[in-house]
Amino acid sequence: MRPQDLIEKKRDGGELTAGEVAHLVRGYTSGQIPDYQMAAWLMAGLLRGMSDAETAALVEEMLHSGIVLEHPDIPIPKVDKHSTGGVGDKTSLVVAPAAAACGVAVPMISGRALAHTGGTLDKLEAIPGFRTGLSLDEFRKVLAECGLALIGQTEEIAPADRKLYALRDVTATVPFRPFICASIMSKKLAEGIDGLVLDVKTGNGAFMRHDDDARALARMMVGVGRQMEKRVTALITDMNQPLGRWVGNAVETVEAITTLQGDLKGPFAELCIELTARMLLVGAVESDLEEARERVRRSILSGAALDRFRRVIERQGGDPQVCDDPRILARGEIQRTICAGRAGHIVNIETAELGRIVMDWGGGRLQLGDRIDYGVGLEIHAPLGEKVAVGDPLVTAWYNDQSRADLMEARLKAAWEIAECPAPVPPLIREVL
Ligand code: URA
Repeated sequence: MRPQDLIEKKRDGGELTAGEVAHLVRGYTSGQIPDYQMAAWLMAGLLRGMSDAETAALVEEMLHSGIVLEHPDIPIPKVDKHSTGGVGDKTSLVVAPAAAACGVAVPMISGRALAHTGGTLDKLEAIPGFRTGLSLDEFRKVLAECGLALIGQTEEIAPADRKLYALRDVTATVPFRPFICASIMSKKLAEGIDGLVLDVKTGNGAFMRHDDDARALARMMVGVGRQMEKRVTALITDMNQPLGRWVGNAVETVEAITTLQGDLKGPFAELCIELTARMLLVGAVESDLEEARERVRRSILSGAALDRFRRVIERQGGDPQVCDDPRILARGEIQRTICAGRAGHIVNIETAELGRIVMDWGGGRLQLGDRIDYGVGLEIHAPLGEKVAVGDPLVTAWYNDQSRADLMEARLKAAWEIAECPAPVPPLIREVL
């Protein structure tokens, strides 16, 4: 089988057999098929579409591209959470330690920044010394000792997603339901979990910009999980504005730690509590949603969740002092506030554009292997629905690269739409499947 024949078949709208999908995934993972051929096939798939059978074959191959973990020596339920990606979405940094503090084990495999969205691994690596590339043995030990471990895809676990994720990021082949489903479900199912909570984002900062598409993606992933006899819940949540107050790697880690320190005001904390509570239900350590939410709040307010985070940072080589003083994390040296040029109500925020601004200013990768400036960050002062007067702050930017300041500041200002009349603010949690 020649890769070019499979690219041609997909280009012309054909349906690949399971054997053909397996040939591509195995060939690419082992290095026999080069990036350029796989990229061509990905683009053909995105443009021509994929059948349910092709998607199922892709999930299956990507899942079995590495080992599928089991945890016979961990007697408590193993549950994870995964988001389809957003701007300002640092929930994993709160949800994983809070769930662990409430009695479930969280063997979390996350990703790096993808297109305009931030990545959990990059936010964790903003903590000096933190290692997300643990060996399998280290991963198991950290999980057993801390109740959670936070790593990326490895050569051993989900290696196909490790390569495909990076390739999709730089070939504009991210926002396609079958690829997102296969990427997420292959690594989550490889973790050896009993249950999973999916946070499926919808809106102008998400890969699925419309609720219908988000719902279809949620159904696809829930279907795959349930077929594998996992307990899966999906929440469809809003991404028409950044989640929380901060966007950027180090500043989001600070916001997550502040939440773990007990600041439970606002939509970010609300979503963290909801997702963690759902994990407790999926793991069957709680059966009542309100009691689960209360248990999560207690785990944070008592310091138990922060203590888990401190332990995992320490065990993964990071500086645990960030838990006491998160301001030791990098922050850009230059600070500039963009203000409203007219009075009115915030009716739209170009959320994906904010993610791209952080990326372009050095906070993300433009090419594979680029170094990240963890100190680049945005503080959002004016969320959707806010009433502003002329001169009120919309957003403050922290950065180091002065050479692009004028352009970036103009882009930031253009990302806010202010109108005379208010517009309805979309609800944070739209639907639960
Ligand atoms: N998260 C993933 O892990 N993969 C995707 O494709 C999108 C979000």
